Amino acid sequence: MKTIFSGIQPSGTITLGNYIGAMMQFVELQNDYNCYFCIVDQHAITVPQDRLELRKNIRSLAALYLAVGIDPEKATLFIQSEVPAHAQAGWMMQCISYIGELERMTQFKDKSAGKDAVSASLLTYPPLMAADILLYNTNLVPVGEDQKQHMELTRDLAERFNKKYGEVLTIPDIRIPEVGARIMSLQEPTKKMSKSDPNNKAFITPLDDPKQIVKKIKSAVTDSEGIVKFDKINKPGISNLLSIYSILGNKTIPELEEMYHGKGYGDFKSDLAQVVVNVFEPIQEKYNNLMESTELDRILDEGAEKANQVASKTLKKMENAMGLGRKRR
Ligand code: TYM
Repeated sequence: MKTIFSGIQPSGTITLGNYIGAMMQFVELQNDYNCYFCIVDQHAITVPQDRLELRKNIRSLAALYLAVGIDPEKATLFIQSEVPAHAQAGWMMQCISYIGELERMTQFKDKSAGKDAVSASLLTYPPLMAADILLYNTNLVPVGEDQKQHMELTRDLAERFNKKYGEVLTIPDIRIPEVGARIMSLQEPTKKMSKSDPNNKAFITPLDDPKQIVKKIKSAVTDSEGIVKFDKINKPGISNLLSIYSILGNKTIPELEEMYHGKGYGDFKSDLAQVVVNVFEPIQEKYNNLMESTELDRILDEGAEKANQVASKTLKKMENAMGLGRKRR
């Protein structure tokens, strides 16, 4: 069986973008692959975090993974910092990375632009991500489009390692969904929907209450034409809403265009809001139950144990290949 690895940062509540671009794929793929899903808390601290908030967000993300349908019988769910091999292999990946290639990462450029004090870890974020993936002999990485460049670097680093030190690492492929790989901000539809957006009307989270969801969709920026038609360049707002509707409502975009032919944005938006609420309501109920149970800790303990076993084996192989420490089996 082929192996899948993916991760989500516990920095604030996840968004509809994370749900569509990443989590929906995970739920589908767990039936056919050996899956590892990670809460990447070490990536989250590349920017300042409040320690109590971070703790809360880690737990909340674990509950959300389960609430959206990740089955711990099928997939391994764990917290990055509870598997020390990630930081160890991350260091080794840093040692074979070039500053120039890390500086070219658009996420680094965006996150460091205009800041006086930029942490070194913001630059070395992608080698840690590469380590996450490579430790599990991963074949496939399901992510949204914004991670494409990091994935290309991961492949380059794995190839570079193998060339220098012998065939140790599996080269992973990327998997980006056909629709929904890049859900846009509801307020500035030419910008990616992001949980770090200061305007909270720009994103929806699976934990928003139904009233908030309706309000945010009603105030989503569209255009003055009033025609429900997919046109990413000229009508980015309505196109983004059409993508969301299509995925969550299980209808194709032409079907939706037909359904709303001759109707205005008002009808379209209220129906879409209902579709989103219908998806998130049962998730919220499961989430609330999980947050109150001890089940969560048991699942995360088991996940960390299983991940540690696999990751430490690859780490030893990497250390042997690079000549670190004494030779071990
Ligand atoms: P993060 O936490 O920013 O996002 C988690 C996942 O959600 C996807 N995503 C989106 N998809 C569609 N539309 C959007 N607006 C949107 N915003 C986010 C992301 O592409 C991602 O799949 N570097 C990663 C975390 C990471 C990781 C890994 C991922 C660390 N190690 C190893 C895969 C494998 C990140 O910051 O994701």
